[in-house]
Amino acid sequence: MTTSAPHHAVPASSAAGRRTDHPAIEFVGVCKDYLTHGEAVPAVKSLDLAIAQGEFFSLLGPSGCGKTTTMRMIAGFEAPTAGKVFLDGQDVTGVAANKRDVNMVFQSYALFPHLNVLQNVSFGLERKKVGKAEIARRVGEILEIVSLTGMEKRYQKEMSGGQQQRVALARALVNHPRALLLDEPLGALDLKLRQQMQIELKRIQREVGITFVYVTHDQGEALTMSDRIAVMNAGLIEQLGTPREIYERPATRFVAGFIGTSNIVAAPVSRVEGGLAVLDLGPEERIVVPVPASVPAGREIEVSVRPEKIDLHRTAPQAAGSVLAGTVTEVVYHGTSTNYTVSTSTGSDFVVFDQNAHDAEDVASRGERVFLTWAPQHSYPIGV
Ligand SMILES: Nc1ncnc2c1ncn2[C@@H]1O[C@H](COP(=O)(O)OP(=O)(O)OP(=O)(O)O)[C@@H](O)[C@H]1O
Ligand SMILES: [Mg+2]
Repeated sequence: MTTSAPHHAVPASSAAGRRTDHPAIEFVGVCKDYLTHGEAVPAVKSLDLAIAQGEFFSLLGPSGCGKTTTMRMIAGFEAPTAGKVFLDGQDVTGVAANKRDVNMVFQSYALFPHLNVLQNVSFGLERKKVGKAEIARRVGEILEIVSLTGMEKRYQKEMSGGQQQRVALARALVNHPRALLLDEPLGALDLKLRQQMQIELKRIQREVGITFVYVTHDQGEALTMSDRIAVMNAGLIEQLGTPREIYERPATRFVAGFIGTSNIVAAPVSRVEGGLAVLDLGPEERIVVPVPASVPAGREIEVSVRPEKIDLHRTAPQAAGSVLAGTVTEVVYHGTSTNYTVSTSTGSDFVVFDQNAHDAEDVASRGERVFLTWAPQHSYPIGV
């Protein structure tokens, strides 16, 4: 760590001399341009971000949005073009990677194939000249946590993908880093194993209590595991929040489209009554959505509603909330739900997930005229 002054005043030190009142990781006005063929390519445009101690924090976004670049700046493998990076309140912007108290686990776990599990996990501690007894104790403890006790003698080729992944994790965790950076660590695993490892990783993080920064482009994975998620797009954070906030209230059209499935309609507000905007779309069709007081009648807004919030009816309903009429164009049976695509008069197709909780018959079939309804609180305006 550096000796430079902490970013924030009044650092309180714990018994181990570690500060607990600063964010584990902080970015202040960080930009990163790569110089390629004499041209500056912006990878991270302007990042202000504070990750709390012990948080499971995910960076989520499409390929090329700057996730790995952000991680590499935390680890110290990449220097920001502008701005500052703080670890535990210390400015580490100019500090070398090996002087930072963080460890990174990559998509390809890069175990030493000629070393067994025990040797792989002990390697870093041996290099640091930690005593034999101490190494044995720490390695034993960490193998227990990642459920690999009894596999100490195995070589990489004698293990499953998930087991190899856990060796890689153990190898990073045994150093007791302040933060662990995981860049798509489950990318090489098949779906079943991936899902198992998601639960395992979450448990491990709870047990060791250190800050995890997790990179993924898989929204389901981010929603399942994270305390908070930063959704990135083209080098910027579009939204930062808990999984529930991000799923239930996407702040932008990009987030609404990237996280799960969203039905989006743009239409002018016909009137506002008691905090609810009514968008008349036809004699029997309307959208009713809660809006802030700043939204006047006449303004066009975009309204989003999730497929699982919509009810499908064969006859015109007497509903107080939103009602849309349409024609079923697609019915896909998914086991736990049946998914309908309904072409509506709004010009956009709506997707409806109908949970298979009732009798073994679909609510409607292809070509049928149907009505969609949902409660006002289940839709929200985007970006207002
Ligand atoms: N060493 C480099 N030199 C030049 N450009 C780079 C370099 N590394 C990354 N980039 C560019 O920076 C942008 C961000 O890349 P980055 O690797 O951070 O994306 P990512 O979000 O991790 O994507 P993925 O999900 O595909 O791993 C991309 O446009 C990429 O082409
Ligand atoms: Mg990447």
